[in-house]
Amino acid sequence: MTHHFAHRHLLGIEGLGPLDVTAVLDLADEYVLQNRRRDKKSSVLRGLTQINLFFENSTRTQASFELAGKRLGADVMNMSVKTSSIAKGETLLDTAATLNAMHPDLIVVRHQHSGAVKLLSEKVDASVINAGDGRHEHPTQALLDALTIRRAKGRLHRLTVAICGDVAHSRVARSNMILLGLMEARVRVIAPPTLLPPDIDKYGVEVFHDMEEGLKGADVVMMLRLQQERMDGAFLPSRREYFHRFGLDHQKLAHAKDDAIVMHPGPMNRGVEIDSLVADDLARSVIAEQVEMGVAARMAVMDLLARNIPAEDAG
Ligand code: NCD
Repeated sequence: MTHHFAHRHLLGIEGLGPLDVTAVLDLADEYVLQNRRRDKKSSVLRGLTQINLFFENSTRTQASFELAGKRLGADVMNMSVKTSSIAKGETLLDTAATLNAMHPDLIVVRHQHSGAVKLLSEKVDASVINAGDGRHEHPTQALLDALTIRRAKGRLHRLTVAICGDVAHSRVARSNMILLGLMEARVRVIAPPTLLPPDIDKYGVEVFHDMEEGLKGADVVMMLRLQQERMDGAFLPSRREYFHRFGLDHQKLAHAKDDAIVMHPGPMNRGVEIDSLVADDLARSVIAEQVEMGVAARMAVMDLLARNIPAEDAG
């Protein structure tokens, strides 16, 4: 691999080029093999300190980053910070200054406000990885999704990918729309008008309001969690009605290609955006693979970022 991944931080998919994405995916394929061995450990991050700073609840993403760091030999520390209401900016920057004094090399941050991770990256010396900021971006999720798709379908370009559901509140959808556009996939979004972001036109995606129409000929069906914690008004008639119109069951899935794969970033609301019979159908669902690919993709990202950390400090 000759392409140099010339980034200090991973704040979003925005700012990456197709060669950057391919570099991450190619290296991640190698880490999948390492993760399936009995000895899962290497020393790529030996001597480096990784802090996982989570201002928002997370199970799988935090566990995934923790395992990824440990398997690469880093010292990993987890910090969960519960913030209540106002003065979050202050808390964030105070925390950043405190952590910075401990000389971490990699900081993985999840925060409920869009843009908070970038702000933090400007205040610390470490490489910063965005593990989800508000409804803005979740770049490692898009990379693990791309890895899952590429392994299942052999490519990304000219695949038809339908992203369905609560696009408006989803950083996963945003990062995926940018990445899939970059890699020349054909992206569709299927959602009720109330769950589409106002700037949807700028992503170069096709918009549908009906599952049957939108799923026709799709190679990949990506479901999104209904993010009720981010909704401040009335977006939906009821969860029942939502399932009826936008929930993925086998009947709706039948409109996609026969070999279409089904994805979901988790956590799932079974019976709301996805029927259990589809989620657990191992012939179609790659939801468990997504979790496996998450560890490998995060190892690849941290490996590539760590290559840009200077070997020895002069001071
Ligand atoms: C996603 C997130 O936090 O944005 N989940 C995840 O990273 N596993 C999607 C979601 O919460 O719906």
